[in-house]
Amino acid sequence: MGAEPGQVDDYLRANVVDEPRAYADGRAAAHAAGLPQIEVSAGQGKLLKLLVVLSGARRVLEIGTLGGYSTSWLADGVGPDGHVTTCEFEQRHADVARSNLDAAGLGDRVDIRLGAARDTLAALRREDAEPFDLVFIDADKENNPHYVLESLELTRSGSIIIVDNVVRSGSVLHPGDASTDEGRATNGTREVLDILGSDPRLEATALQTTGSKGWDGFALAVVR
Ligand code: SAH
Ligand code: DHB
Ligand code: MG
Repeated sequence: MGAEPGQVDDYLRANVVDEPRAYADGRAAAHAAGLPQIEVSAGQGKLLKLLVVLSGARRVLEIGTLGGYSTSWLADGVGPDGHVTTCEFEQRHADVARSNLDAAGLGDRVDIRLGAARDTLAALRREDAEPFDLVFIDADKENNPHYVLESLELTRSGSIIIVDNVVRSGSVLHPGDASTDEGRATNGTREVLDILGSDPRLEATALQTTGSKGWDGFALAVVR
């Protein structure tokens, strides 16, 4: 009679989340293409959609596309008149995402910007476009402090900023070894949480999660 967090994720996905078939197919296609299996869970994806809907966001920025799974939920939330700009530096990931988003009927509302996200964010600033209403940050964790500070330049009062993977099995508790990728990721996470907690322009919270992806968490902030 035991139960595992991953099994509960499956149960909730089947009974509550109502994941569109096209998103499940896109996830399977990304896995089949050999992309890393690190997309948000169905329940987290649906939460992203509901945050977009609840906030009335029409312009969404995502950092870290992978195969477009979280992108699908975000694009779902903004509706046919909304828009998602998503940043990805792996051509192969962007190609899988493009194919999946088109197959889900969401391609028209998503712009995949290929390149290092730091460069794309700088380009977006130069383009001086309308502010984004919601930003989902889910790429290289080392750059998270930069991504949040740059998001503040690309949003408005009332915009939402979400940062994925801020717990990572508790590794956030201790400074990381800066000579390793994992340690730098930990340090980027600790630093971004400091910013979220102390920058007067932000009001934030952070929550732990468990499920198919293990023990992790996300942070959510509103721009004052
Ligand atoms: N948001 C996705 C998962 C993203 S995984 C989902 O939940 O479905 C992280 C992605 O960020 C990977 O595809 C990786 O190639 C990309 N990435 C990592 N570092 C990056 C960088 N500096 N610039 C742009 N993309 C980056
Ligand atoms: C990793 C990255 C993610 O964005 C995620 O959700 C889970 C794991 C990783 O790099 O291991
Ligand atoms: Mg993530």
